[in-house]
Amino acid sequence: MTKRVAIFVSGGGSNMRALVADMVGDHAARPVVVVSNNAGAGGIAWAEAQGIATEVVDHRPYGEDRAAFEAALDAALARHAPDIICLAGFMRVLTAGFVSPWAGRMLNIHPSLLPQYRGLHTHRRAIEAGDATHGCTVHLVTPELDDGPVLGQATVPILPEDTADTLSARVLEQEHRLYPAVLRRFAAGNTQRLDL
Ligand code: GAR
Repeated sequence: MTKRVAIFVSGGGSNMRALVADMVGDHAARPVVVVSNNAGAGGIAWAEAQGIATEVVDHRPYGEDRAAFEAALDAALARHAPDIICLAGFMRVLTAGFVSPWAGRMLNIHPSLLPQYRGLHTHRRAIEAGDATHGCTVHLVTPELDDGPVLGQATVPILPEDTADTLSARVLEQEHRLYPAVLRRFAAGNTQRLDL
């Protein structure tokens, strides 16, 4: 059975595009919906242009009421009956109430070599720490932020002249290799860790 994938984005969605581009041919999964908390997300316009269903659930009307926001997300998702959720630059923290029912079926990509640098500004923090390497991680999502079993990592060197912007661009290239490769294996039932 083909696996149905929901992709969550908040911004431009370059990782989403890489995932969608790979889900063809003998890939065990297909994209069924792109979900965003941001109606203006470039990723939503792109998905619509591709003929992929989209759902926008703006978080702002819900204020601090995360449970109500997540109930609306759930309702939107239910219309598409996904098997797998891929967070791809989705910049809202999801609580245990939303995450726990998806245990083992929700993936995220994070721009650091987890467990290093959870949270934001990972590239700047890696440079400031004097690290020799940086990279990205695809992991299963658990209620803890940027935690959960690692499915794959890609490593890049940090160069002496790197700024947060140049390093982030180099990591993003690897994100576009790593995330599709991990999802392809995951959808086929392979959860062995992949290192690029
Ligand atoms: C990516 O670098 C992704 O790793 C990061 O946001 C960017 C989204 O770019 N995600 C996080 O920081 C999540 N904690 P994209 O919209 O072009 O894929």
